[in-house]
Amino acid sequence: MRIRPVSAVTCALLGMTTLFLATPAKAAAPAAARTRVPVAIGHRGVPVQAPENTLAAVDRAARLGIRWVENDVQRTKDGALIVMHDTTLNRTTDVEKRFPGRAPWRISDFTLAEIEKLDAGSWYDRRFAGERVPTLKRYLQRVDRHRQRLLLEVKAPELYPGIERQLVTELRRAGWLDRGHVRNDLVVQSFSAASLKTFHGLRKDVKTGFLGAPKVSELGAYAKFADQINPNHRSVTAAWVRAVHAVKGPHGRKLEVSAWTVDDGDRAVDLARMGVDYIISNAPHVVEEALAEEDDDYGPAFSPLSFLYDL
Ligand code: G3P
Ligand code: CA
Repeated sequence: MRIRPVSAVTCALLGMTTLFLATPAKAAAPAAARTRVPVAIGHRGVPVQAPENTLAAVDRAARLGIRWVENDVQRTKDGALIVMHDTTLNRTTDVEKRFPGRAPWRISDFTLAEIEKLDAGSWYDRRFAGERVPTLKRYLQRVDRHRQRLLLEVKAPELYPGIERQLVTELRRAGWLDRGHVRNDLVVQSFSAASLKTFHGLRKDVKTGFLGAPKVSELGAYAKFADQINPNHRSVTAAWVRAVHAVKGPHGRKLEVSAWTVDDGDRAVDLARMGVDYIISNAPHVVEEALAEEDDDYGPAFSPLSFLYDL
């Protein structure tokens, strides 16, 4: 999925491989476990550098060269889809100051016009004062403008009946359900299997991800409606990843694994060795750097030429 420049070291190794493969002894060498490093996904953008789930966070990801961003989608009192993680507004905006009598400040108790008055940047840093809570529509436009890709989480769908159908409508209107976006640029994920099943039923072509770490015996059931199984990184083992990869999803391809939330380079490398496909991170640039270093070192976990280390 990610295209990397081919280095001189790579060319040299490829040349050596051609020579070694020509000998019978090397033909019997075991194939390496993987040929691709995981892709880093910016969790709510790059929240170590900009307020989470804002357009500024998307811009920051773009500036760092981060191709994939993750977000959280919820619905206002008057039915607008917006991007925010918590189901209440008070942690990431100045709502307590602006609407002091409206505790507990649930998103679903506020209209879009009210939410658009809020400052979603000052809590994070004065430099981001005046940043707004984005509508999904504006968020999609910004991600598109940067030619980025989106892991869209339907957050707390049990609070917003019918949000899956509404999401389909908004994605279509924003141009995100055309062939190119569906093939390359979009995954819809949720902790709610019911919501994901509903979404999959409405748009079978769109890739979906279930947030959680089901038992191996349950994977077949999830594979009916989910292309990815996306666990907390602490529950990941190499054997579990192998079991997930052994199952085919609704589009006939092996299930993928996106692990969250990993901000430490060494841990990212460990997960890569276990075979995960994506790593969701608050510091995706740190993860990318750690993985690239490992890749450049031609560590046994990454290189299709790993048998050369046994020579
Ligand atoms: O994408 C995975 C992660 O976002 C799930 O947890 O609480 O950050 O939405 P949360
Ligand atoms: Ca999320």
